[in-house]
Amino acid sequence: MLMAVPSSSDSSAALPRHIAIIMDGNGRWAEKRGLPRAAGHRAGVKSVRSTIEYCARKGIEALTLFAFSSENWNRPKEEVGLLMSLFLEALDREVADLDKNNIRIRFVGELSQLATELQTRIRNAEERTARNTRLTVVVAVAYGGRWDIAQAARSLAADCVAGKIATDDITEAMLTERMVLAGIPDPDLFIRTGGDHRISNFLLWNIAYTELCFLPEPWPEFGDTQLDAALELFAQRERRFGLTSAQITQPAAKGETAGGKK
Ligand code: IPE
Ligand code: IPE
Ligand code: MG
Repeated sequence: MLMAVPSSSDSSAALPRHIAIIMDGNGRWAEKRGLPRAAGHRAGVKSVRSTIEYCARKGIEALTLFAFSSENWNRPKEEVGLLMSLFLEALDREVADLDKNNIRIRFVGELSQLATELQTRIRNAEERTARNTRLTVVVAVAYGGRWDIAQAARSLAADCVAGKIATDDITEAMLTERMVLAGIPDPDLFIRTGGDHRISNFLLWNIAYTELCFLPEPWPEFGDTQLDAALELFAQRERRFGLTSAQITQPAAKGETAGGKK
């Protein structure tokens, strides 16, 4: 049995279809300048805009942005409040432009935890841009990778209890199709700004084979130069998906695989 592996001669293999970003370092960027952390979050909004424009220009299909984690609820009340008003402001300001540029926006996470007003605006923005095809921007808000796996497991368990699925028949694909990013290919490239080398409960299920890129620049300083560098790095990586290098570089050498049980 031969495994399906993207061919390295395929020119599109050098460009990620899906980029996922942890936008980190806003607070430290501000503190270093003697400014309140809020100023860092405000400055970060500009980077969001320029990153979306860049991805649309390059022909990237999906961009997932980690805006607020399940754990970020535990920050001081004032900072959480400020972040929520920034989301609202940015949505109001940007949605018409996104729509005009044929960009779809979606939100994933425990959205029921958000203020009703924000939930309504989110739904409106999603509906308004639902048919856009150039780039899908997914904003992860009140999102946690563990929450995502747990909610998928809950949905699967409910189907088992209802007799729709036998527990012995459960597959990885059944969980994948219940994760919030179902229907979007797994991220090819992950970027975290701000200098820390960790995942912080971002897309745990979906990044099994994602190329990881950690950048020292704080999010407000992230722009085209850093994106160019990240894409360059990505193009140089050899994605082996568990195979040998020879199987990737010389498709003829693939031969018969041992197969094995999944
Ligand atoms: C990322 O920047 C934004 C959110 C987590 C909402 P931070 O606020 O985490 O900035 P640092 O990491 O403290 O510098
Ligand atoms: C991750 O950043 C979450 C977002 C960027 C939304 P954090 O700043 O919350 O992560 P930790 O606390 O440094 O791990
Ligand atoms: Mg941080």
